[in-house]
Amino acid sequence: MTAKTFTPAPWPRRLRSQEWYAGQSRDAIYHRGWLKNQGYPHDLFDGRPVIGIMNTWSDLTPCNGHLRELAEKVKAGVWEAGGFPVEVPVFSASESTFRPTAMMFRNLAAMAVEEAMRGQPIDGAVLMVGCDKTTPSLLMAAASTDIPSIVVSGGPMLNGYFRGERVGSGTHLWKFSEAVKAGEMTQDEFLEAEQSMSRSSGSCNTMGTASTMASMAEALGMALSGNAAIPAVDSRRRTMAQMTGRRIVQMVRDDLKPSDIMTKQAFENAIRTNGAIGGSTNAVIHILAIAGRVGVDLTLDDWDRCGRDVATIVNLMPSGKYLMEEFFYAGGLPVVLKRLGEGGQLQKDALTVSGRTIWEEVKDVVNHNEDVILPLEKALTTQGGIAVLKGNLAPKGAVLKPSAASEHLLRHRGRAVVFEDIDDYKARINDDALDIDETCIMVLKNCGPKGYPGMAEVGNMGLPPKVLRKGITDMVRISDARMSGTAYGTVVLHTSPEAAAGGPLAVVRTGDIIELDVPNRRLHLEVSDDELAARLADWAPVHEQSTSGYAWLHQAHVEGADTGADLDFLKGCRGNPVGKDSH
Ligand code: FES
Repeated sequence: MTAKTFTPAPWPRRLRSQEWYAGQSRDAIYHRGWLKNQGYPHDLFDGRPVIGIMNTWSDLTPCNGHLRELAEKVKAGVWEAGGFPVEVPVFSASESTFRPTAMMFRNLAAMAVEEAMRGQPIDGAVLMVGCDKTTPSLLMAAASTDIPSIVVSGGPMLNGYFRGERVGSGTHLWKFSEAVKAGEMTQDEFLEAEQSMSRSSGSCNTMGTASTMASMAEALGMALSGNAAIPAVDSRRRTMAQMTGRRIVQMVRDDLKPSDIMTKQAFENAIRTNGAIGGSTNAVIHILAIAGRVGVDLTLDDWDRCGRDVATIVNLMPSGKYLMEEFFYAGGLPVVLKRLGEGGQLQKDALTVSGRTIWEEVKDVVNHNEDVILPLEKALTTQGGIAVLKGNLAPKGAVLKPSAASEHLLRHRGRAVVFEDIDDYKARINDDALDIDETCIMVLKNCGPKGYPGMAEVGNMGLPPKVLRKGITDMVRISDARMSGTAYGTVVLHTSPEAAAGGPLAVVRTGDIIELDVPNRRLHLEVSDDELAARLADWAPVHEQSTSGYAWLHQAHVEGADTGADLDFLKGCRGNPVGKDSH
């Protein structure tokens, strides 16, 4: 498939901000005059690009806690290039603080940012993101407005170390917590390790969801080349911010829009990149949602088709052993994209925010560490993409990350031990009287987009202590939940339709036999069609839905994980009409 060609728009021309600022009308004087209370000279309103720096800084989004300082570098770049920067604080969906889960607010953030972009005099946007949901929410907003936009990420934290060993954000939280349960680590040691996990400003330092989504933004062509991996505190992160500020001004002049960049080819590049980096399963949902906003027809099947033969060559936790700092020193994502291109797995003509193709951006880069970005013959797995499973237990699909799973469990048949919801799981999992062993399949219901609500990252539910004490570290787990990008295990996620929407997962019973067959992409509940139909006919929701507020809006309108879990009325591109002035 050939990428569409892009022809820059003629310049100078009238920009949308001039609908607010141009002329001598009472309204123009009102818009300009009030802004002049910041001390802006009159000539800044002469038709130059107004750049909204959409900043997800928040003290309660610690991963983005440094973005206010970084925004100053973006502003410097915008000024240098002849633009007019305005910093706009936007909804910041913090992964580590929001309850019930940040995912419930991804769509709210996307909606708020979309309106902040469209309703104000913004000609171009710099999307300042970092923590997991901040990247997709702002990309969804940019896609729905189609205002020229560019991502600059906050960058990952420096490596964590505990007693001489690398400690990865999230990954070691799960590991240490299991070690405490297994009696291999004391609670005091766990507390001692706490600070070592977060050594500097920045987002999670593993190839978790934040690093994955930063990589997705770069692979989509929506960030300057090299953006994903530069550590938050490295001076080159500040340089990247300034270069991004410079670039957005020219993107506005050229009218280079998200719809020019985020084409089907770009999404295929993102999917293959996710396989190569051993990226988070959360990317599946976010990429589908972004595609839904820009109007690209992308499905779960595209994930399996494009990712199936992609080798995981980035040796980072949770699939491998290093962290983002080492990935950056090795050359970062451009090296991975080059590898994909050399292997015929990159749509080389896909356009990027630089105005050049993705191949032009990466073709000359060098791998500086072949233990971090591995040669093909040493790949962590040759089938690194996300496996999309289907069957009577997941008619619309479920996903599994082979690079984070145990080889011996990829084909497994076992007895289901069912937890009706997360509270049921928490109440019973530590009880040694629970009838479960390592051959069983743990099933968790009612944790999907509607059910939780928001689809919590609980799919990698911890194993029963009595199994852990045997030295067993993995069991097959199935749910309609998500899993943190920093987590690992043979974990089937996003089972669709979800239990709370009456999917077959809702009627699995303890004692049922389930067959997981990843090579054949099959997830099968061994009950007859008649029995399954009878159980579904008897099914009724077990939890009441919210009756007011955003939780109601979310539960009433959220779609399934198989299509990106967006709100149904937010899908699509609504463009950026400037509307009427009511002053
Ligand atoms: Fe914010 Fe991981 S919790 S990036």
